Amino acid sequence: EDILHASSELKGKHVLVSAGPTQEAMDPVRFISNHSSGKMGYAIARAAANMGAEVTLVSGPVSLSTPYGVNKISITSANEMSQAIKEHMEEADFIIKAAAVGDYRVEHISNEKIKKQGDILELTLHKNEDILAYIGAHKKPEQVLCGFAMETENLLENAEEKRKKKNCDMIVANNLKTEGAGFQGDTNVAVLLQENGKEELGLMSKYELGKTILLRMLEIQANRKGT
Ligand code: CTP
Ligand code: CA
Repeated sequence: EDILHASSELKGKHVLVSAGPTQEAMDPVRFISNHSSGKMGYAIARAAANMGAEVTLVSGPVSLSTPYGVNKISITSANEMSQAIKEHMEEADFIIKAAAVGDYRVEHISNEKIKKQGDILELTLHKNEDILAYIGAHKKPEQVLCGFAMETENLLENAEEKRKKKNCDMIVANNLKTEGAGFQGDTNVAVLLQENGKEELGLMSKYELGKTILLRMLEIQANRKGT
């Protein structure tokens, strides 16, 4: 599956993928982050490259090697991810936001290491821009947008609400508590939500899920052209 351009479904298409966690600095030695491994986003990027696409991958800090033929842009914070996505969204045909973006950043990043003091340390956090919602509000009609929804309860309700609110063509919903799903492993169990219905996918590799997502996005684009 690693042969470059093993197939050509996405030949001539530009795919923009975000992956991994973001890190929000507190001081020069500490940050707030999450458990995202980047595996899902990297699998999508690899699948897209193998299907013949030109791929840009905006990645938070992960310990994965860049898939062959993929143009990777490394970022650290949610603000940096936002900037990189905005710089590259113009030329993208398909945009897939698999990253686990930090919802909040530390208001004042200390220039010096924060010293241990009293028993309680309070940090004020500020909400980060919602990158997916920004793309949803600004995308061109021919661009196809796919977001993710990572939930621990009320999966379908919460995911559908995100799809609508962020104007996504498709949302990949997964429950962190499902066996075989989640951040660390090489498999996932997901439900694909579109305006006209849902597709429940069983346990599969993140690579296979990536391919399925890309094929559905192709269908969405084809249907749109047909109307
Ligand atoms: N997302 C984003 N920018 C943010 C937060 C989230 O682009 N600042 C994107 C994620 O990449 C994902 C989707 O929004 O594709 C859903 O992320 P999720 O964390 O599940 O949803 P939120 O809208 O942040 O809501 P909550 O964390 O409260 O469930
Ligand atoms: Ca969030």
